[in-house]
Amino acid sequence: MFFDMQQLAADIRYKVLTATVTPRPIAWVTTCSSDGIANAAPFSFFNVLGHEPPTVALGLLRHPGKGSKDTAQNILETGEFVIHLVPHEMAASMNETCVDAPRGVDELVLAGLKTLPSRNVAPPRIVGCPVAFECRSILNQETGPRQFAVIGEVLCGHVDDAFVIDADKGYIDTLGLDLIARMHGSGWYSRPGGLFQLVRP
Ligand SMILES: Cc1cc2nc3c(=O)[nH]c(=O)nc-3n(C[C@H](O)[C@H](O)[C@H](O)COP(=O)(O)O)c2cc1C
Repeated sequence: MFFDMQQLAADIRYKVLTATVTPRPIAWVTTCSSDGIANAAPFSFFNVLGHEPPTVALGLLRHPGKGSKDTAQNILETGEFVIHLVPHEMAASMNETCVDAPRGVDELVLAGLKTLPSRNVAPPRIVGCPVAFECRSILNQETGPRQFAVIGEVLCGHVDDAFVIDADKGYIDTLGLDLIARMHGSGWYSRPGGLFQLVRP
């Protein structure tokens, strides 16, 4: 089947892309408004872009007829955000924070999550997430009337000692982290599994 993206309705484009580009890692993002109110929400239009400097990308959509999501607004206002990767045991809490809460409502409180202060940015870190990256936006790029991309520099990272095999070498117990990723449809996720290794020629 040939899908001409320019001819498809927006919801079908979304389905074709999100049902095929899988699994997508989930950035569970905390931000703060300029008046200091915290916010949390998950985003699977997310990945790492490079390491010199360490950079990540987020794709933030707008609801039809509504303004920017709070995460987008807060990044535009402050440039700061913290990305957490989501272990399986925190899947339900992550899901709670995707509610479309009014601006000014802290989803961290709604979901009963505890936080710790970050070192270099104002948004807090979520307790229980084994990996968190403190980031500062280096590019906020509109890519359409209903979406924009953020490229952020990773200023520092926190990895739970329990999953660090050798800090000097950067060896992490990736499988032990048990991180979930977004799959297809309305609510499908994946966990690590079905792995295989290829030796590079
Ligand atoms: C697993 C998951 C992944 C999501 N990925 C995205 C995404 O990549 N981009 C996006 O705009 N919304 C995404 N959403 C929806 C947002 O989390 C949701 O709109 C949320 O209410 C935004 O919160 P905010 O207004 O506090 O920023 C995702 C939701 C879930 C549950």
